[in-house]
Amino acid sequence: MNKSRPTRIAHSAAPLTGQHAHEIQAFSSLISMPIALAQDARRKSVDNLNQLLADTITLRDLYKKHHWQVAGHTFYQLHLLFDKHFGEQNELVDMIAERIMMLGGISIAMSADVAEITLIPRPPRGREAVPVQISRLLHAHEIVLKEVRTMARQATGDGDDGTNDLLVSNLIRTNEAQVWFVAEHVVDEPLVRADGQDDDGRNGA
Ligand SMILES: [Fe+2]
Repeated sequence: MNKSRPTRIAHSAAPLTGQHAHEIQAFSSLISMPIALAQDARRKSVDNLNQLLADTITLRDLYKKHHWQVAGHTFYQLHLLFDKHFGEQNELVDMIAERIMMLGGISIAMSADVAEITLIPRPPRGREAVPVQISRLLHAHEIVLKEVRTMARQATGDGDDGTNDLLVSNLIRTNEAQVWFVAEHVVDEPLVRADGQDDDGRNGA
């Protein structure tokens, strides 16, 4: 008797394009992960981290906008500084998104979703002067730092030490350092002549 064999799938080198199927995990769902952390704790961390992800993506992109559009006599140094901060924020984006996935959640990814969620005000499409660019960046950093401090305390309370470490060691430290470098550019210090110097360079007092 000829027993029926499973149907053999014919393999081909041709790419199988245009495929569609239902999602394998809905956005609002949480899959279980064997990391000895309660589902409720993972749920709270995932929700917090997605808010932080949206705001960090927005801050990252604000840096690239300003990298391109900066003008004036500090153009070169700010052009480079803004791109350095963009790169550091981009690393944070990846760390946050991957932390969400390892907790069993789903990280938001696309700009339309980010725009719906972020707390950072939308900038105009047009070009702004350096002091306005910097004010906008400092405001965005403070939004992030405020929420991160709250989220870090919550993660500790829930026993999610991994999330707390990410928030404190990476998010808080990086954002604080970037604020310092950016804020020093709007300190109103004279460029050439210190206060009180006369035309001969002597103290006029
Ligand atoms: Fe560039």
